[in-house]
Amino acid sequence: MSFSPVEDLHATPKEVNSEDKNDVETASTSSISSSASLLVDIMCGSKDDEDSEAESDEWDRPAVDDDEVIKQREEIIKSLRILGYPAFLEKHVFEQQVPIRLILKKLGISLPTALDDFEDLDLLPLLKEVLKREASRRLKLPQYNTIDDVVKQLHKAKNVVVLVGAGISTSLGILDFRSDNGFYARLAQHGLSEPSEMFDIHTFREEPGIFYTFAKELLPETHHYSPSHAFIRLLEQKNKLSTLFTQNIDNLERETGLSEEKVVQCHGSFATATCIQCKHKVEGSLLYDDIRNQRLSYCTECNKPPVKKRKLTSASDRAFSDVYNGENEKEEEEEDIPQAGVMKPDITFFGEALPDQFFEKVGSGDLEKTDLLICIGTSLKVAPVSELISLVPASTPQIYISRTPVRHTQFDVNFISPFCDWVIVELCKRAGWLEDLEKLCNEPKCHTGAKNRAWNTSLDVRFHEPSTYYIKSKAEAEAEALCKERENVPGETENVYKDSIESDTNQTV
Ligand code: OAD
Repeated sequence: MSFSPVEDLHATPKEVNSEDKNDVETASTSSISSSASLLVDIMCGSKDDEDSEAESDEWDRPAVDDDEVIKQREEIIKSLRILGYPAFLEKHVFEQQVPIRLILKKLGISLPTALDDFEDLDLLPLLKEVLKREASRRLKLPQYNTIDDVVKQLHKAKNVVVLVGAGISTSLGILDFRSDNGFYARLAQHGLSEPSEMFDIHTFREEPGIFYTFAKELLPETHHYSPSHAFIRLLEQKNKLSTLFTQNIDNLERETGLSEEKVVQCHGSFATATCIQCKHKVEGSLLYDDIRNQRLSYCTECNKPPVKKRKLTSASDRAFSDVYNGENEKEEEEEDIPQAGVMKPDITFFGEALPDQFFEKVGSGDLEKTDLLICIGTSLKVAPVSELISLVPASTPQIYISRTPVRHTQFDVNFISPFCDWVIVELCKRAGWLEDLEKLCNEPKCHTGAKNRAWNTSLDVRFHEPSTYYIKSKAEAEAEALCKERENVPGETENVYKDSIESDTNQTV
């Protein structure tokens, strides 16, 4: 997996800007506001040289929670913009000798293990690219801060672009990728050291078995959509939807009745599959049996007889055969080597180009007309899709709806909630669109559990300056408050919280 700091829209999918949660979890206390302002002083060169050692120590100060991590990062970027990246490098890397790894970490970037052995200075080109990119990144628009601003814009907008990721489908029981209990964490439990390798085209060509071992977990088992999917269809019904860019491969957007021409499936889908050898294309569902049974699926077109035979000679050949066949008596037999190509679902793997449709849309000029950008349920960690947010006009309001905040870009208004469906209901309520949304959610194709959870949960909506809303269930908010109250009573806190979450879940699903 490679880090992609360069804005290259013709790149194949690459992971960008990981947020290193461990940084936060292992942190100890510190006075960050003073640290952050000192950092700005340092960067702006307003301190004496004799203080520089103490100042560079400020870089080592850990952040105690997510808010502080974000704050520190924002301070760094603020000063980067003031200084410009060459002066920033001069000051911190060359004069103060702040380790490049530390600067990258403070910017929210965790490096792949492949770079562990690199000398710190070898990372300079990477840091330069990151700083250039950060310095030119979009800034938050000061006039959009509240839910009312968003609602106003929903009413006004005529060309809404929606960008979605796995988070819009988790209320249907589908895993996302990067959450603690997401698909990649599950792969890691199965011993896959670099889980996203499952989607690496080079790995697939060499060892397609890795993909076929785990792909069943990703097969779309439902044709039911969530209230968040319904909201996108609602935007189309109201003649507001310009384009939906989806990174999801579950194909559920179309189940809402959304027109084909409105949807760009940036990372392909399971809908079709192609032979990696002869490029023969088939309906994706023809592979489902093999995928469910963890068997390689072979092309029926290029399966040319006669099938070659190979004598197993070496000890390692025999050992391999024992493991995979589980039958010792076969060790001296000849083994078939299939000649047919392996079928690959038309999901875009890392190392493959995105579908033409993506580049056609990006090149069409449509994005320039965008008057509202809504990102839902995506960590925005995979380029080039993550770059879409910098392709809409700088004056276009951008809103972010997700379970976890993003640190590597600035949205105008953020909605952080365990279920984006809750945010959608709240937005529609305030926009006067709830009835319209409900109609779509009453369709048999809407997932009953997800719909009930969205409609039957009383919500606790809290605003945090300057522009972030935290939306959770009242039950959860009350449990948290109770936990705080009882914080000092050993053994009670966790149970109260757990009970409440369970009753919440039972009530709604
Ligand atoms: P990620 O798993 O990276 O991000 C999902 C985001 O949705 C996270 O921020 C979650 O906190 C959030 N989330 C999860 N459930 C939610 C819910 N019910 N309500 C609100 N937010 C929720 O998934 P993507 O961003 O879609 O690529 O990942 C992008 C690409 O990475 C995928 O398309 C896939 C993967 O490697 C390929 O297959 C090529």
